[in-house]
Amino acid sequence: MSVCLAGATGWAGSELARAIARCPDLALVAAVSRTHAGRRLGEVLGDDRITAPIYPSAREAVGAPCDVFVEYTRPDAAKANVLIALERGAHVVVGTSGLSDEDYADIDVAARRHQRGVLAVGNFALTVVLMQKFAEIAARLIPHYEIIDYAHDDKRDAPSGTARELAARLSRIRTPQPTIPIDETVGHREARGATLSGTQVHSVRLPGFVISAEVVFGMPDQRLSIRHDSGTSARPYVDGALIAIRRVSTLVGVHRGLDAVLDL
Ligand SMILES: NC(=O)c1ccc[n+]([C@@H]2O[C@H](COP(=O)([O-])OP(=O)(O)OC[C@H]3O[C@@H](n4cnc5c(N)ncnc54)[C@H](OP(=O)(O)O)[C@@H]3O)[C@@H](O)[C@H]2O)c1
Repeated sequence: MSVCLAGATGWAGSELARAIARCPDLALVAAVSRTHAGRRLGEVLGDDRITAPIYPSAREAVGAPCDVFVEYTRPDAAKANVLIALERGAHVVVGTSGLSDEDYADIDVAARRHQRGVLAVGNFALTVVLMQKFAEIAARLIPHYEIIDYAHDDKRDAPSGTARELAARLSRIRTPQPTIPIDETVGHREARGATLSGTQVHSVRLPGFVISAEVVFGMPDQRLSIRHDSGTSARPYVDGALIAIRRVSTLVGVHRGLDAVLDL
């Protein structure tokens, strides 16, 4: 299976590139990075096994066909990259966070037109997939909950992809009903967080945090927190991304979350 990786020189993309190089069933055939365009990815990452050429844009990188295009750049570049890859007949795995529901609706139209799969996963870590599943089970029984997303101070997008995805998932089970409606907040409405898919989401951006997500469920005289914490390396995101790459071709249209291709 041939793979083109946009963002291959980045924090998450470089770890994934090294992992793809270790997989006998996957071939990294092209990479995208504006800064390192024209070089071989292996030179930049210090890994001789990786011979993929680096292109300055997704349009140039998918000039030679690939089976799967992985988008791992920035929210402002992601949608255009995905649409170009679909046009060229690739299935797409989106790791980049920060795309809106409207972006995904447009991408879904294009993916269905081209009969290709798009698997968008806000967090590839298998432990996050389990957190989502556990939170969905809790939301079936507990009507009051809010989400807190913690990240390092230089993370640009807020809320995180993980928090957005969690809010969207839980809204399919139920929409929480705050005892005091948010619009009736006395004081500063913003203090109650952003409302995403009907759920209050609070983003903390401070030095000292890496990436964590927590759903707090409240019931009279009892509370349940389901929390996930990532370490500092990009290693947790590799295994899930490899599963997504291998299975995205079984899908048509946009699917959100790794469990679209897992039997949980
Ligand atoms: N789904 C998950 O599990 C997961 C895990 C980790 C991170 N993420 C998300 O993945 C994205 C990347 O994160 P990161 O920490 O790896 O970022 P990063 O270290 O800043 O890397 C970004 C990569 O994208 C390239 N890039 C940036 N803008 C581009 C553009 N306009 N066109 C082409 N290439 C561009 C960069 O190379 P040049 O600057 O040389 O172009 C670099 O290779 C973020 O949205 C992050 O939130 C998701």
